[in-house]
Amino acid sequence: MDTKILKIDNESIDFAVSLLNDGKVIGMPTETVYGLAGVGANPDAVNEIFKVKGRPTDNPLIAHVHKDFDLESLCYIEQDYVKKLISEFMPGPLTIVMKSKGVVCKEAICGGETLAVRMPLHDGCQRLLKAIDKPLVAPSANLSKHTSPVTAEHVYNDLNGRIPLILDGGKCSGGIESTVLDVTSSVPRILRAGLVTKEMIERVCGACEIAKHKEGDRVKSPGVKYTHYKPKCDTLLFESGDVEGVNKAYEEQEKKGRKPFIMCESKYEEVFKDKNLLLLGFSGEEVASNLYYKLLEGEKKADVILAIATESEEGVYLGIMNRLRKSCG
Ligand code: TXA
Ligand code: MG
Repeated sequence: MDTKILKIDNESIDFAVSLLNDGKVIGMPTETVYGLAGVGANPDAVNEIFKVKGRPTDNPLIAHVHKDFDLESLCYIEQDYVKKLISEFMPGPLTIVMKSKGVVCKEAICGGETLAVRMPLHDGCQRLLKAIDKPLVAPSANLSKHTSPVTAEHVYNDLNGRIPLILDGGKCSGGIESTVLDVTSSVPRILRAGLVTKEMIERVCGACEIAKHKEGDRVKSPGVKYTHYKPKCDTLLFESGDVEGVNKAYEEQEKKGRKPFIMCESKYEEVFKDKNLLLLGFSGEEVASNLYYKLLEGEKKADVILAIATESEEGVYLGIMNRLRKSCG
């Protein structure tokens, strides 16, 4: 199969809609990462998504809708605080998990009772969702376990020949996947941390918990139990501030004839000045936005990425460190 990459315009949107309505799956941009999209009510399209990605079939998909879509046609909104969350954070990088009304097929939610829904904050994606006017289910558009894609080219590198079209909406601004929030109980629970933080949700709802996934627990957000986000080169993770440890590892790698790259916040630039660097930026938002981009750049250039943990694990750094541990831990 020939995989086309098309910039978003009226013509490419029409083409995408016709492919999707025909049961095909395509790459689409969102503000977080690129998605592998198919019509959520079509079991054949959903099965194709699992197949193309090589995704375990017990890991449910997120439904994406445009900003004027009636969420109550898809789910039961049972808790009072949910409408406040919707008006505050949607469209945006927040996914809410509610009891499904069955419009999105059972294959997409792996036979469960709940559906995860989000409204992407990306113009091109909104145009596509508005044009098709039905929920598109989409996991990140990478092969299962690999790093999530943040450009159309990244999607192409993983899925070339497996899908007919990738809509090119530029580099994703957010850079890590949405916050997944269970809103079926009286206190909302974060199942996957992201750019909408615990603190932001607390401000709106008064309270917010973070789900703890301990070994042996029944996993509430199945995706968190799998290895994830791995670049194709070796990776090592160092504690925040462990300059000595990184320098030592760098030397050892070079002695073995291997090419190391240090992936770190830009505040370390001076400290490591004559070394190969993958700089992530200064603020939490910048680091999130560059994380996958730099991992995917690194896997092309490096034999091993030496990554340094951030100092904080509060706010957006929780989501960042969660990904960094899985990709480099
Ligand atoms: O930013 C994002 O969320 C991106 C873009 C493409 O929208 N999508 C994404 O999808 O990250 P995926 O499939 O890679 O991750 C979805 C996560 C998984 O951890 C999955 O287990 C969880 O959401 N999830 C989906 N439906 C769920 C449900 N009904 N209950 C609990 N967790 C759910
Ligand atoms: Mg994913």
